[in-house]
Amino acid sequence: MCYAIPGQVVALDGRVATIEYFGERKKAYNEIPSLRVGDFVYAQGGFVIKVLPPQEAQDILAVWKETFFELQEMDLRLSRLAVKSEGVAKKVLRILDKALEERPLTKEELLELLRLETPQEREYLYKVANFLRWKNLGNGACVHGILEISSFCHRNCAYCGLSSHNRDLSRYRMTEEEILAAVHEAVEVYGFQSLVLQSGEDPKRPLDDLVRIIRTIQKHYAVLIFVSFGEVGLEALEKLYEAGARGLLLRFETSNPALYAKLHLGYTLGTRLAHLEKAQEIGYLIATGGLIGLPGQTLEDILNDVLLAKSLSAEMYSFGPFIPHPATPLSHCFPPSPSLVLNTLAIARLVDPKNAKILVTTAFETLDPQAARLGLLAGANSLMLNVTPLSFRSRYTLYPERAHEGETIEEQIAATLSLLRSLGRAPTDLGASTPQG
Ligand code: 5AD
Repeated sequence: MCYAIPGQVVALDGRVATIEYFGERKKAYNEIPSLRVGDFVYAQGGFVIKVLPPQEAQDILAVWKETFFELQEMDLRLSRLAVKSEGVAKKVLRILDKALEERPLTKEELLELLRLETPQEREYLYKVANFLRWKNLGNGACVHGILEISSFCHRNCAYCGLSSHNRDLSRYRMTEEEILAAVHEAVEVYGFQSLVLQSGEDPKRPLDDLVRIIRTIQKHYAVLIFVSFGEVGLEALEKLYEAGARGLLLRFETSNPALYAKLHLGYTLGTRLAHLEKAQEIGYLIATGGLIGLPGQTLEDILNDVLLAKSLSAEMYSFGPFIPHPATPLSHCFPPSPSLVLNTLAIARLVDPKNAKILVTTAFETLDPQAARLGLLAGANSLMLNVTPLSFRSRYTLYPERAHEGETIEEQIAATLSLLRSLGRAPTDLGASTPQG
């Protein structure tokens, strides 16, 4: 995340620190033994990651103070529920009223919402989702960086441009030095505090190398690391956690076991879920989700995907559209409509109003250039910027013509900050799920 706001530790209770940000209190796990009450810190994803010199923190806070309240005011204005109910069916209004009261919706009710098509009804749904985001999580937006360290992959996922189906791809594997240089740039130059390291399932990158890389990053940089290397095995999850990784990004792709088996020949949903369950048990923050609009997928499947993410206690919901890649067996298929993607993000907010970080994915931005703005106004509160060096980025072709493929990190940060500012959002982790005291 870029340009986070420091907070001050006001209480310490065992592993749990209470941190105050302009009068708001949040809790975070602490793993820094020397931490004291009164210290200024950066926290990410519910973890304290860095102590700052008091003067530096106070200087940053002085700059932020006014802006922070201005942004909150703007968000408040945009989140007001002044929507017209004309053109919205009574039944839909009733369900959305129930959602506003934060009473759990039934599957039938959620399906009814997921199915909405008219602009008036969709607008109402998005307003409700945005209102719940504002009410429960305030105006914090979480901005992670993603570094794609290798495009080699031995799997055969029917939709993926990195899969073994794509024989023409000129693949790359960043060296350890290249990875560390990219991390250095992201953390020290651009201020990211949370990075996802991602790759295909690359058989030529041994676990020991990944462990060493993560350990080195942890030793030198105050940054929260998410790993996203596919199904590495349950023991590997433990080793990566021991090395310092604290988050796992692993989509289950679809919660429908038959559809999963069809799209991933020779693999099962069960193995994937075993990874997610193990990661949860170890203590990883879980980022997961699925593809929207896969051929053969029903609306009920998509709803089940959202409910599965919730039952896995996902701290981040990563749902994006399927975009056909020409070198895969699904090249002839079509992507979903942007409305279905927005409906899914809004439903995710209704299902998990209080905690979820809901991501607007790059795939959605590829499908619709307005995706980030629309998604952030429909319940989402999270973005991911690509910090992979430009020389490699265009070769990580999950799907064609990825948004931001040719943009420098500076350009992405500038565009993101200006978008967040226009929406009254602060690039902070204030909306993080927080541990129970
Ligand atoms: N369209 C959209 N997303 C894709 N991914 C892979 N291929 C595609 C595609 N064609 C996503 C998968 C995977 C993530 C790294 O990229 O969901 O988990």
